[in-house]
Amino acid sequence: MFLEERRNKILAYLTKHERASVDYLATAFAVSKETIRSDLNEFVRLNLVQRCYGGAIIVRRSLQSELIAPRSKNFEVLLKRLEKQTLHQTSKQKGNKMNGKVCILGSFNVDIVAKVARFPKGCESIIAQGSALGPGGKEANQAMAASRGGSQVYFVTKVGTDQFSQFAYDHLSSSDIHAFKLYQSDTEPTGNSIIYVSQQNGENMIAIYPGANQTITDDEVAAIAPELTTSDVLLVQLENNFSVTLNVIKLAHALGKKVILNPAPYPSEILPYLDYLDVITPNETEASLLSGIDIQDFDSTKEAALKIARMGAKRVIITMGSRGVLLYDGHQSQHIPALGVDTTGAGDAFNGAFAAALANGQSMVQAATYASAFASLAVEREGASNMREHQQVIARLSQR
Ligand code: RIB
Repeated sequence: MFLEERRNKILAYLTKHERASVDYLATAFAVSKETIRSDLNEFVRLNLVQRCYGGAIIVRRSLQSELIAPRSKNFEVLLKRLEKQTLHQTSKQKGNKMNGKVCILGSFNVDIVAKVARFPKGCESIIAQGSALGPGGKEANQAMAASRGGSQVYFVTKVGTDQFSQFAYDHLSSSDIHAFKLYQSDTEPTGNSIIYVSQQNGENMIAIYPGANQTITDDEVAAIAPELTTSDVLLVQLENNFSVTLNVIKLAHALGKKVILNPAPYPSEILPYLDYLDVITPNETEASLLSGIDIQDFDSTKEAALKIARMGAKRVIITMGSRGVLLYDGHQSQHIPALGVDTTGAGDAFNGAFAAALANGQSMVQAATYASAFASLAVEREGASNMREHQQVIARLSQR
C-alpha cells in the first residue's frame, strides 16, 4: 500500500474511532511503528490529529478533511466532494439553470473585522462595538459568489503553514465551490486583512497583508491549465504576485476564454496589459487611478469608462457602491442601479455573480443586473464571504 493510501486509511480510521494506538496501526497496516509515528507526526503538522500517550486522537474540526496529499513541501488538495455533498450540490443546482464554468486564481485571507462608531484618527485608540474573525480574501469571496450564482467554480489559492491553513481548508471544503487547489507556503503566513467597518455609513477601511498569496508560483498555477481549457471564464484580482497573475491572464486570453479582471488593489503595472481583458471591473477609486480622470459624478464616471476602454479593455464596469454600476459595453454606457447599500465584500459578490452569469451565457447587461441583485443580498449579511442563494437573487430581481 502506498503512503498516501495508508495515510488516508489511517485518517478514516481515526475519523470513525476518534483515537488509535501506534501498536494497533502498525499491526493493522503491516508497517513498522516508526512508519506509523512518521504518519502521525505529519498529521500533527497539518493540525489533523493530536498525539497522546502511545497513539493519536483526531482533531474534531478536521473531520471533513478527506483527501490530503502531501507533495514535497506543499500540500495540495483537489477536493473530491463526499457523495452526500455532491447530491446536495446537484439538487441545489437544479433550480439554478446555470452551469457555466469559472476558473478563479486568487487570494484567501483571514478577515479580522472591527465594527466602529467612526474610523479612528492617527494615534487614537477607540473601543470597537463588535468584532469578528472570518474567511475572506477578494478572490475566495468571489469564488463563493460565483458558485452560489450557479457556476461550476475551480479555485486555486495559497495559504501559510499556520493554524489558518486548516481554517481555509474547512471554509473551502464546506462551500459550494466545485473543486480547489490549496497550496501552502513555508515562508509566508496566511494572508490577513484588518478591516474597520464604520457604523456611521457602512463604509470600510482595509489593510491587507497578502502573505502566502504573493508566493504562488507559475508551476503551481500551471495546475489550472487543464481546467481553464474547459472553462468559460477566468476571474482574477490583484492580491497575488503580479507576474503569475499576468501569466494566467495571458494563458486564458490565448485559449480564447473570457477574462474578467477586478483590478483591486490597484497597481499601475496592469496598464500595458488591458487588451488581454474582456471585462475590467474597477470601483470608482480604481477607475480614477486607471483613467487619470477624477470621478465626481455620472458624467465623469462615463468619461473614465470610455477612456479605460480606449486604453485596451474591451468592456468596463465601474462599481459605484450604493449608486449601482456603470457599464460600458464597447458601444454605449448604461447605468444599472443598486438594490441595496454598499459594504465590505459587495464588490466581491458582484464580481463572482457577474462571472457566473457571463459563464452561463448571459449578456453583459443581464449579467450585471443579476450581479447587482446578488450583491444587494450579500451585503444584508455580515462577513465578506457570506453569499446568498441563486433563488433568493431571482426573487429579489422579480420584486424590482
Ligand atoms: O473585498 C473584501 C476583501 O478584501 C476582504 O475579504 C479582505 O480580505 C480583502 O481581500
